[in-house]
Amino acid sequence: MRNKKAVAILVSGGGSNMVALVDSMLNDPDHPGRPCLVLSNNADAGGLKRAAERGVATAVVDHRPFGSDRAAFEAELVKPILEAGADVVCLAGFMRVLTAGFVSQFEGRMLNIHPSLLPKYKGLHTHARALEAGDARHGCTVHEVTPLLDDGPILGQAEVPVLEGDTPDDLAARVLEQEHRLYPAVLARYLRGERSVLHLG
Ligand code: GRF
Repeated sequence: MRNKKAVAILVSGGGSNMVALVDSMLNDPDHPGRPCLVLSNNADAGGLKRAAERGVATAVVDHRPFGSDRAAFEAELVKPILEAGADVVCLAGFMRVLTAGFVSQFEGRMLNIHPSLLPKYKGLHTHARALEAGDARHGCTVHEVTPLLDDGPILGQAEVPVLEGDTPDDLAARVLEQEHRLYPAVLARYLRGERSVLHLG
């Protein structure tokens, strides 16, 4: 398929969601997207090696030298994304909060996956919070990124049951399996202009 949209993926760690996204694009000749860059704030991110093994260009912009100057970090972070000609940016286990200034450059073309059924449990420790609340259902959400953290229009959700005796790690593992189904499905729909919410059981 010609005229594929270029997708940049930002990671901070192992990048299991990035692998799911990259493989979904590389394994389907009719996929509307192609991976153009995997970018990390962490030179040791396992995702960088996994991307390179798949022939995807990688880059690192370490946030630490910039200290608390988020704008200076983001002014560097945006460069490889622009150089790669990204049409869409996917945050996938990217653990830096991005400022409104950065996000506004990609308004309407930046996605994120969050490990809860938003709007519940924005922020961190989502699995422990769902367990503490005694929720029977939990899951993950893919949403458009807007300046407010974990707050943009929802594009897809996948649910899992909470089981007796679950630890946060048990729940995280069950949710992560669904993330790897949900994010690739939502990205393909999104690149085809579909904006209705996808619900996976
Ligand atoms: C996962 O919990 C995911 O929900 C969140 O970051 C964590 C690591 O994801 N976005 P990955 O394995 O690095 O994709």
